[in-house]
Formats: sequence, structure tokens, C-alpha cells
Amino acid sequence: MRPYELIKAKRDGQVLAPADIRAFMDDFTRGVVPEYQMAAMCMAVFFRGMNADELGAWTQAMLESGDVLDLSDTPGTKVDKHSTGGVGDKVSLSLAPLAAACGVPVPMISGRGLGHTGGTLDKLESIPGFRVDLSVDDYRRLVREVGACLIGQTATLAPADKKLYALRDVTATVDCIPLIASSIMSKKLAEGIDALVLDVKVGSGAFMKKLEDARTLATTMIGIGRAMGKQVVALLTDMSQPLGRTVGNALEVMEAVDMLKGCAPADYTECTYALTGQMLVLGGKAKDAAEARALMEDAVKSGRALKKFEEIVTAQGGNPKALHDYALLPQADRTVQVPATHDGFVTGIDAEALGLAAMALGAGREKASDFVDHAVGFVLHKKVGDSVKVGEALLTAHVNDEDRLEDVVRRVQRAYQTGPTAAAKVPLVLETLR
Ligand code: URA
Repeated sequence: MRPYELIKAKRDGQVLAPADIRAFMDDFTRGVVPEYQMAAMCMAVFFRGMNADELGAWTQAMLESGDVLDLSDTPGTKVDKHSTGGVGDKVSLSLAPLAAACGVPVPMISGRGLGHTGGTLDKLESIPGFRVDLSVDDYRRLVREVGACLIGQTATLAPADKKLYALRDVTATVDCIPLIASSIMSKKLAEGIDALVLDVKVGSGAFMKKLEDARTLATTMIGIGRAMGKQVVALLTDMSQPLGRTVGNALEVMEAVDMLKGCAPADYTECTYALTGQMLVLGGKAKDAAEARALMEDAVKSGRALKKFEEIVTAQGGNPKALHDYALLPQADRTVQVPATHDGFVTGIDAEALGLAAMALGAGREKASDFVDHAVGFVLHKKVGDSVKVGEALLTAHVNDEDRLEDVVRRVQRAYQTGPTAAAKVPLVLETLR
């Protein structure tokens, strides 16, 4: 079928043949199908959805639009983790060395922060010298020799997704579950993985605000992975408040190192253990979550997990001394305590609003070309369930640009909700899906 006929068929709710989808996507990647036709197709998919066969063909066509890396020279089951993104989500920084220290090779291609969510690459680049722009050959070598490598998206991995995402961004077709699932999975499957753990975040700081949407996204991605012969497990995890106590690049690196030293906040520690534990099971290093937990705790207690992070940092050009002397990480000019305006208990923290406040400080970008200030961000003193008095510090802001401070203080105070009674605790792992 011609592009016009395909768009019309999808618009009218018909099922498209895999070969037609493949040809349409290939022609879009080569510039033969113009952007306006792909935009119309995405809008038709937004309203009509895709069945499993269509979605499989759509994802495979995006995956095969570029290189699919071969890591077969690294022995063992290669397992990565993908998070749909949140505020204070620094799990990749602790998970990759922890999994590698327990014997699971971790090939990880990560993204940058945009809007209210942070990105692993920005966090890593706050370590002096750390390089995320390694060649594919170096990436392959470091996965084999060190056990983990964390780099940025290359131009040759799933180029159809890059082009398509930019188009969806300006045509109101980003928030469409089949398009999100195929976008994420095409990039992850191109990395050379055997298995994948998904962290689908749910709540005010997440892409998916509702549990049922998160569940649908997770099962859609699991279905795509399974159809391509990969093992995929998804955890739905709480993002109704920031994870851990830090938001901002260098501050999050410090907390990640604390995790590997066994002294990070409980929610972040649990999230790392839950996700890494699934990787150990998928990677054949543990028979179940309990056995995985014992292995991980031993890796932390013995110092092996932190040592693995030092090895990764050194191999990627960074200064490993910064993991022991935090003064070597970027530091803001000053710190400011943001006081509470009400007595009571913290009943909620609007994580998206807090993420946007961190972005306003300079910790994140509004548009892809913005500069990121690695030093700035927040250290939270109050989280949901804590009691608070007027004037007490909700958090400490690490600030470089005084002009932004007044607006940021207002945003933080608005993001915190207080009430007369403590809110019930929300479990961190809401569901496990396979
Ligand atoms: N992240 C992605 O990689 N793709 C999407 O479509 C949405 C979030």
C-alpha cells in the first residue's frame, strides 16, 4: 500500500500488515516518506492504537533502522535497566556497578535530562573527566573487561526513533503508549542486551501519573521484548515524591556513592536493590530475590560494589578520587535553607514541581541545547510522613545564580503539601510484572 492508503487504513481502524509498516518506516528513515505523512500516521496510531503484530513490526523496523550491537564476545547474560524517568532517580549510578560487581555484565546506553526529570549522562558528567561519548568499540570492550559501560545514544542506534521522537514532540503524539513503548524498546534492544529490567515510575514526578497507565505501558514493553526473544521484567515503582534525598547532578552522584557504601536513604536503597536483584536473577547469578539480596548486600559490605564504580569511572576517563572526596565534585557558591510555611506533617511533595524548581536553578534543561549546572540542586530534609514546623528547613538549595533564588523558594514551598495528620506510607515497589 502507498503511504496515503496506509494512513487512511489506520485512521479508519484497520490493521496494517507488518510488511507495509516496515516499508513505511524504512521510507521515513530514508526521507522518502515526508514528516507530514509520518505525523498523520502517529496521530492515527494515537487514536486507533496498534495490535501486537503491528507493534512488533513497528518496533523491529525502528530497531533495524540502524546498528544492532553484538556483544557476544562478552560471556554471560547481558542485562540492562531502563527507567521511564523521575525526580532524584539516580538508580542507574548505583545499579550498574552493583550488578557488575555481582557478575552481571551491564551494557547501558542512557539519556540526558529534559524538563523535570534528570538524565544519567548529566549526572555522570558531574564526575570530573567522565566521558559518555565513547566509541562503540570502547563500549563493547569495557562491557567485556570492566563489566559495565554507561554511554550516550550514538547516531547509528535506532536513528528512526530519533527522527520520530522529534516529530512526535511537536505534533502532540508523545503521550501515546504504543509509540512510547516502541521508542524505548527499539533503543534498548539495539544495545546488545539479552534481558532487560524496566522501572516504570508512577506518580506526580513520573511520565505515567496513574497506576493503570503504567501497567499498560509495562505490559506493552514486556510483550515487545518477549516477541523479540528477550526476557523482560517490569517493576512499577512509586514516584509520588522524589527518590532519596537529593535532586541535582553532583548531589545525586554523592548519594549514589553513599548507596554503594551502604549509607543512603532507605527508599533509594530499596529501589536499587529491587531492580538490581531482578537483573541478578535474569542474569543467572541468583535463583530468586532473596538470594540476590544476600549477594548484593555482600558486594556493598565488602566494598566490591564501590570498587567496581571506581573501575567504571577510571575506565571512562573520570577521577575516581571524587568518589571518596566529594569536594572534588562541582560545588555551588552557596547553600540556602528553604523554610516551611505551615506546621503539621508533610502529606505530599509534588515531584514534578520540585523537578521543575531544580531545573529553574540550572540543574536541568528546558530545551535540548540548554547548559546544565552540575553543582546546583536540592538536599531534602523533609519527606512524606515527616513532621514539620513553620520556619524549619524543608530542604537545602545549592545555588549559583542568585537571580533565580526567589522564584525557586516559592516553587519549593508550593511543591510541599502539609496536613494535620501523617499520610499512609506508599510502598516503593507497587507491582512486579513479567
Ligand atoms: N522515552 C523515550 O525514549 N521515548 C518516548 O517515546 C518517551 C520516553
